[in-house]
Amino acid sequence: MAHTRHHDGSAGDADYGTIGATYSQYRRPDPRIAATITAALGDARSVLNVGAGAGSYEPLDRAVTAVEPSASMRAQRPGHLAEAIDAVAEALPFPDAHFDAAMALYTVHQWNDLARGLAELRRVTRGPVVVMSGDPVALQSFWLAEYAREVVERESGRCPPVATIANALGRDARVSPVPIPLDCTDGFNEAYYGRPERLLDSDARLACSAWSFVDPDVVDRFVRDLRRDLDGGAWDARHGHLRTQPEYIGSLRLIVGHR
Ligand SMILES: C[S@@+](CC[C@H](N)C(=O)[O-])C[C@H]1O[C@@H](n2cnc3c(N)ncnc32)[C@H](O)[C@@H]1O
Repeated sequence: MAHTRHHDGSAGDADYGTIGATYSQYRRPDPRIAATITAALGDARSVLNVGAGAGSYEPLDRAVTAVEPSASMRAQRPGHLAEAIDAVAEALPFPDAHFDAAMALYTVHQWNDLARGLAELRRVTRGPVVVMSGDPVALQSFWLAEYAREVVERESGRCPPVATIANALGRDARVSPVPIPLDCTDGFNEAYYGRPERLLDSDARLACSAWSFVDPDVVDRFVRDLRRDLDGGAWDARHGHLRTQPEYIGSLRLIVGHR
């Protein structure tokens, strides 16, 4: 599906000029997920981060080059990180085999042309290409689907099949689930698997772009139903065990290919 760039430069289906203002407040990198990504980067010294956003998960001990089309997201990058280059995955302004490794986190589902973007990542990288994305099938098992089916359907409809990503990254690409910790600081929907009250916060929802695509009536219904079930105990009767479950294997996957 082709998208023109939004007024702030956003190149994917989401307009971060509208929804991105509080993104970095709710989407703080989680140290346990960061450790998984760092391990996948191996001993790379130079790392390209595509769809870099506000810089979550950029390793501080390597030379990072960030690419981010949305001005609103670029503006949220903290001062200690490199300024991001205004470009898109589908046309990376770098020579072949320029970086030791590349990463693309929570972003491939938004690209206009996934195959071209992943081919570009491989072209400019000598070593591992690390993609973190949601498995659209696994996503549908999350309890959120009971309350906001439209949000989950929208999210799973945007996420490319994991096998498509893996195939594009080469024959040896490996896929592994990324466990989500109970107190995950990176507020994507499943991060609240054991803290459902957090999803009653409208800013927390806005930090997950799928919510920006559904009708306001859907959101109102979600808030009303979840609040009712939390107050009345119905959510806890069905899912209360999640409140103390240390990790959740949800839809998050790490897909690592080598050039
Ligand atoms: C959910 S955010 C993730 C940001 C960051 N990687 C993180 O982990 O927090 C998705 C990002 O992908 C960017 N994006 C969307 N389409 C893109 C494209 N075609 N090329 C590069 N980045 C894109 C968006 O502007 C947005 O900043």
